[in-house]
Order: sequence, then C-alpha cells, then structure tokens
Amino acid sequence: MINLRNVRKFYGALEVIKGVDITVEDGEFAVFVGPSGCGKSTLLRMIAGLEGIDEGDLILNGKRINDVPPDKRGIAMVFQSYALYPHMSVAENIGFSLSLKKVPEAEVRRQVEGVAEILQLTDYLDRRPAALSGGQRQRVAIGRAIIKKPALILFDEPLSNLDSALRVQMRAELQRLHRELKATVVYVTHDQVEAMTMADRIVVLNKGVVAQEGAPMALYHEPDNEFVATFIGSPKMNIIPVTATRPAGGKVHLDSPIGLSLDLADANGAVPQGEAKLGIRPEHLKIAAEGQGNFSAEVVIVERLGVETYMTVGSQQQPIVVRAEGDIAVRSGDRVALTADPAACHLFDSAGKVIRPVTA
Ligand SMILES: Nc1ncnc2c1ncn2[C@@H]1O[C@H](COP(=O)(O)OP(=O)(O)OP(=O)(O)O)[C@@H](O)[C@H]1O
Ligand SMILES: [Mg+2]
Repeated sequence: MINLRNVRKFYGALEVIKGVDITVEDGEFAVFVGPSGCGKSTLLRMIAGLEGIDEGDLILNGKRINDVPPDKRGIAMVFQSYALYPHMSVAENIGFSLSLKKVPEAEVRRQVEGVAEILQLTDYLDRRPAALSGGQRQRVAIGRAIIKKPALILFDEPLSNLDSALRVQMRAELQRLHRELKATVVYVTHDQVEAMTMADRIVVLNKGVVAQEGAPMALYHEPDNEFVATFIGSPKMNIIPVTATRPAGGKVHLDSPIGLSLDLADANGAVPQGEAKLGIRPEHLKIAAEGQGNFSAEVVIVERLGVETYMTVGSQQQPIVVRAEGDIAVRSGDRVALTADPAACHLFDSAGKVIRPVTA
C-alpha cells in the first residue's frame, strides 16, 4: 500500500505538485490521469525515487521511504520509451537484471521462461527486439520489470507508442497480468478511456492537484467539478450556461440563451438563483417529438459510427453533442427537439464546483 501525504514538488520557483494526498491500496490497479503537464510523470518518478520530494511523506507499507534509494524500494517502472538492448535476444533482455546480480544461468533461464509464459513471449525468446512488433517489444519491457517480482509496478504511458488496435489488446493483457501477478499497479496516462477501462481507482490530476479520485463509474456519475465532468467520458459532457430561478417550491427552473427551458427537482433549495452551468452528457439527450422537449436546435454535423451516431447541434459558439441510435434518419440542416434526462443533469457554479443535490 502506498500513501502520499501532502506531497509537493518544485522546479526552481515553479510548484508542479501542489500538496497531493493519494492512497493506493494493496493489489489495486490505480490510474493517474490528467492532461499533458499536470504532473503525472513527476508523481510517478517521485514514487520510484527518480525525483526528490520537497515536502510531505511517501509511505510504502507503513514506512516513510522519502530517502530510500530507488533500487532499495522494490518498485519496478515501465516507461513509455522502453529502450531494449538491441544486440540481446528477448530472453537476455528479460533476464538482464538477474544476470547482473550473478544469478546462476539455469535459474535465470527458468525465471525468464516463467515470465515469458505470462506475457505470451515463449515463442520469441531467441529473437532480437528488431524482429518484434511494437506490442511484443512492449511486453518484453514489461517482462524486464516483472522478473524482479516487484510488489509495486509503475507504468508511465506504456501504450502510447502503439497503434489503436494493439492498445486495446494490451489494455486487456495488462489487466490479465495484474490479476496473475497480484501486484499493486500505478498506471499513468492522459487517455481517459485507458483510465476508465483498466482502473480500480482513478486519480484525476489537474495542474498539480488531485481534481477527484474514485472508482471509474463514480467519477462518471458524480463528478465533483466541471474539470472531471468534462475529462471523464467520451464524447465529453456538454456544458451549457444557464440562469437558475426558483418559481415554486422544490424545483429549480433553468433557462439558457440557446432556448433551453428545464425544471429540475431541488427539494432542499441547494441551487442558488442566478448564473450556473448545466452539464449534460451526449447519451442523456434524447430526440423528442417536434415542438416538445427542453430545446430545439439545428443539426450541423452527423457522425455515424455504426452502433451509434453522434449529432452536433446548435451554434458554433455553443455546439452540443447528442448520442443517437446508429440508423437515425437525420441530416445536417434538420431541426431536432431534444429532451435532457433530469436525473442525469449536473450543475456547476461559475468556479466549476458541482452544486448538489440537483435531482430529488
Ligand atoms: N526538470 C524540469 N524542470 C522544470 N520543469 C519541469 C521539469 N520536469 C517537468 N517540469 C514541469 O512540470 C510539470 C509536470 O510535468 P510532468 O512531466 O509530470 O507532466 P505529465 O503530466 O507527465 O505530462 P505528459 O502527459 O505530457 O507526460 C510540467 O509543467 C513540466 O513542464
Ligand atoms: Mg508524462
């Protein structure tokens, strides 16, 4: 188990990690996700011991390890650019750290074969890296890390050099590997789909602070702020500026310049009157009969993916994405009426903080 307690990091005067508290439980697959430059790699390198920690505590299994050198932490790290030794075979690459430690050759061979089996590299052990596909090379890099039997494995964007089909395959393989090794994993990515599909727990980072952490579906359903709301989920949540009024008890009425008119239950009057932002995901907008629904808008873009179709409606200043069924008969230029599912609406204040509860 790892704890980060109020961890800070400065590069000169620039504070890049601004007091981060994170707990990763034993055996968990944790994903740190966030946009480029938010501090993901820095955090991971601090856990590995490759960067110093300026303030706060890094605790591994109850012990403060801020000052423990990297090779004494029992942590393995797999980088995005996995430089394999080109002149060595796959087996030699995987077994290199054991050979360095003068482990007898037969024992190295035995352990390499075990690792190769887990990673489905058995047939490639005698090849050089140049004769492998990108995914196979990535698995060799993982093999090099796991042969040390680390209790904690850190991955820094390990799949970003792979094509999309391979990425999908490797996502599944990494999950299988996690189950088999029973190791704790901290995985860094800027790709929210990778985070959603692989994580037990997601930590969303923004500008050196934790924006929110939780189980993938908890972040999807109950984002604490506009940043997480629009970062998790694809296509992203629509944000529509609204004015809130409270005409009658137990309800809040929302109006927007795009012509939207919507009542939400607000039993305890949590929503202040005035300016706010309505968050609604593409999948929670439904086509309504003409003249019905909460608003109507012109369709400007139709993207057909087969199983589903995404329509962009409204103006260039306020585009709204709607998920519809694949075969929907709609063309750009059509006008559609839309209903927002009130139970799936989110409200944010001008600072982007969620206003709860919205619905009763
Ligand atoms: N050695 C350094 N000196 C000064 N600033 C640095 C240094 N390394 C990183 N930074 C800054 O720290 C911030 C966090 O960098 P970091 O590499 O952790 O981001 P990241 O979240 O991993 O981004 P990416 O998704 O692009 O890999 C960035 O603003 C970066 O410019
Ligand atoms: Mg990085």
